[in-house]
Amino acid sequence: MSGDALTIERSALEQLAALLLERAGLKVTPDGYNGLRLALQARMPATGLDDAGEYVRRLKQLAGEHELRALLPLVTVGKTEFFRDSRQFAAFENEVFPELLKFARREARPVRAWSAGCATGEEPYSIAMVGLDRGALPNEVECWATDLNPVAVENAARGRFAIRRLLGVSEPRLARFFNLVDGQYEVTPQLRDMVHFDGHNLAAPIWPQVKPQSKDLIFCRNVIIYFDQPTILSVMDRFYDSLRPGGWLFLGYSESLFRLPTRFEMIEVGGVFIYRRPVRGGTTSAMTTVVRAPTSSTPTPAPALAPAPEPVKPVERPTPKALPLVVGLQIPRSTASMPSPFLKAAQPPGTGTPVQRLDQIIVDIERGDFPRALRLAHALAEDSPEDLAARITLGNVHALMGNIDEAREAYQAALQREPLSVEARLYLGIAAMQAGEPEVARQEFTRALFLEPTLALGHYLLAQVHERRADPEAARRSYRNAINQRKGPPHALIGHFPDLPTSNEAIAQAAQYRLAALSER
Ligand SMILES: C[S@@+](CC[C@H](N)C(=O)[O-])C[C@H]1O[C@@H](n2cnc3c(N)ncnc32)[C@H](O)[C@@H]1O
Repeated sequence: MSGDALTIERSALEQLAALLLERAGLKVTPDGYNGLRLALQARMPATGLDDAGEYVRRLKQLAGEHELRALLPLVTVGKTEFFRDSRQFAAFENEVFPELLKFARREARPVRAWSAGCATGEEPYSIAMVGLDRGALPNEVECWATDLNPVAVENAARGRFAIRRLLGVSEPRLARFFNLVDGQYEVTPQLRDMVHFDGHNLAAPIWPQVKPQSKDLIFCRNVIIYFDQPTILSVMDRFYDSLRPGGWLFLGYSESLFRLPTRFEMIEVGGVFIYRRPVRGGTTSAMTTVVRAPTSSTPTPAPALAPAPEPVKPVERPTPKALPLVVGLQIPRSTASMPSPFLKAAQPPGTGTPVQRLDQIIVDIERGDFPRALRLAHALAEDSPEDLAARITLGNVHALMGNIDEAREAYQAALQREPLSVEARLYLGIAAMQAGEPEVARQEFTRALFLEPTLALGHYLLAQVHERRADPEAARRSYRNAINQRKGPPHALIGHFPDLPTSNEAIAQAAQYRLAALSER
């Protein structure tokens, strides 16, 4: 059955829009119904359904939650950034790429990379930049970049990025690989020619465009989170076949093939784990094996961590107007919410890169100088209207000062920019708690958890709402969910909010404590 042969009635699109709003807080107006139609055409054939009404009915059931999550990337553009996960990129740049280039040169061919699930192109352009920076000639690296979302592919191929999207790009790279055109940064023709974009569905049963053993390298990061296990296994099988012996597969930080029967071996390179098709053979259906040293060269140590942040002078913090939000969470602040290690002593206000300016705001929050933090956050949000972190931080400063309406406004502005922002949902929930609106808070935390089911902090906060709503049974359930995330993937949230722990261990401890307190009642 092809996507074109499907019956998609308007009533089904309306129901789907309502469901997306309820579960993910995603607003799709009738102007966006065509996008919904395209998404259904892409997803429905694999489910065997040809009636959209039936498909939407299935999505509404608990068993349809996974499919609904799978639909999300098709109705919005997925989050991505240049040089996302700097440790992986350091391993790629220092270890993996030089070795691949050496072999490719010996065989007088280019290094062939595939960015599978490339979203708006930041990942494949980052791969190409690394290649040129490591001394490859432009025709020595070929990067094929694919995504299911046609709008994302179109934007990626255009290669134009707003300034806020370039936070991960160093100044030398910005100068070498981008031209400023109409207030946006455009990749140079040289970089653009190294990347070829296509629409491609990884979940499709066959990939006619991909030849066996044709790739040296596959980046498929933050994509398989949308897939169920059989799809992951089938995709991994075909990735394996597409790679040359010795070829590398980079998955997202929180995506692991642990205990999955794949033929890949897992190799520690520069402190990160990367998958590799063994150089010789490989046992079918063997569990993924862990090899701790690269085959060719001695691994360089993980990139040295940046120097510790300069101590922030302890200054008395005035009591914010709002009540303490988080019951029983008396835990030292996690490093994830501390200012960036690159923080220098006070910058003149309103100067520096957006990252430095955000750091300055964090310092002011920590010092309790909320009026100054607010001024700086306003200025940053005005200068970088598209910057998600600036919007969220502005909201947080307002929330800390008890300006709940303004905080909500800033979070809503962040959602306009990134409709699937887990952080905006989470902080909207916190604002609702502050405003004494537990029902709204419950809805927002539930949405955050729909978008990111492994978010321990979300489960913890939801449990607190249940406590306030005098629903101890639901509270216990959510605390248990928070505890179950103890070994789950860590989440670094955008936006600084003092006293919110982000380490799963700290949250699990607090949840355990609350669970015990609830049982004693
Ligand atoms: C969160 S983005 C990740 C982008 C980039 N790889 C990164 O890590 O920054 C996930 C991308 O996967 C794409 N995607 C989801 N399901 C896909 C599928 N079945 N086939 C191809 N791409 C898919 C989405 O459209 C989205 O652009």
